[in-house]
Amino acid sequence: MKSSMPDNKKKSYAIITGASRGIGFYTAKLFLKKAYSVINISRSECLLPGVLNWLVDLSDSKSIDEIKIKLSKKMKNEKNIFCLVHNAMRLWRDDVSSLDVNELRHLLELGLIAPIRLNQLFLPCMAEGSSVIYIGSTLSEKAIPNTASYVIQKHAVAGLMRSSCQDWVGSGIHTACICPGFTDTAMLQDHVGLISLEKIAERTAAKRLITPKEVARLIYFCAKNPIINGSLIHAHLGQLES
Ligand SMILES: NC(=O)c1ccc[n+]([C@@H]2O[C@H](COP(=O)([O-])OP(=O)(O)OC[C@H]3O[C@@H](n4cnc5c(N)ncnc54)[C@H](OP(=O)(O)O)[C@@H]3O)[C@@H](O)[C@H]2O)c1
Repeated sequence: MKSSMPDNKKKSYAIITGASRGIGFYTAKLFLKKAYSVINISRSECLLPGVLNWLVDLSDSKSIDEIKIKLSKKMKNEKNIFCLVHNAMRLWRDDVSSLDVNELRHLLELGLIAPIRLNQLFLPCMAEGSSVIYIGSTLSEKAIPNTASYVIQKHAVAGLMRSSCQDWVGSGIHTACICPGFTDTAMLQDHVGLISLEKIAERTAAKRLITPKEVARLIYFCAKNPIINGSLIHAHLGQLES
């Protein structure tokens, strides 16, 4: 008789883009602690013991072909539990009037096309209970000046998450877009330049920055709770609008 109980023999994998540092790194650390097999996809290694590194530049369209080969060597035809986290991204200053469309193409290859192609690669391996978590931003639903490419990518990711939910009906795969506010990572530090992180922290109701560990915990929570599906979740410590 066919059992409706979850198959405990299935392995659990966390596939995280951009786990070499920042939010991705802490996400890899947490999933490892929860006994997942963790694969980092980025250009430099995630140095946590036990993480498998697939080193590629996701802004290069050929990178997905390399991942396809690695995946076919690692996974046979079985389905397992996956949490696929689309986290890798870059942030630079540009504006709508003068943005370089080639730079924009490059950024969208990394932040939009790569997630779409990775979804297409991994979906056939994903058992019921798997999840796809997109990392958005407060800029997934609003804009600020001089971050045009980033705002465009973050809005697009929110749309991709919503479409994923609608199109994967019946698959048992759930999806969410987590939108952090100011998080204490190299990306924020590089972006704010000479402005101190203390000053940035003043722009939240909590008067502090989010830690990457807090975002990692939210990613894990979403992965484990399929009631969260098609959801865009803001996580910004009460970011002030003025
Ligand atoms: N920090 C914040 O305040 C904040 C706020 C809202 C949203 N977010 C979002 O959170 C996510 C993580 O950001 P973070 O702050 O942790 O940034 P981070 O510390 O700069 O980490 C970015 C990660 O993306 C990877 N990456 C960048 N370009 C890549 C490429 N071409 N190919 C493959 N991997 C690439 C980097 O790895 P390699 O350099 O090794 O390739 C790195 O592991 C991003 O989506 C970001 O937009 C961050």
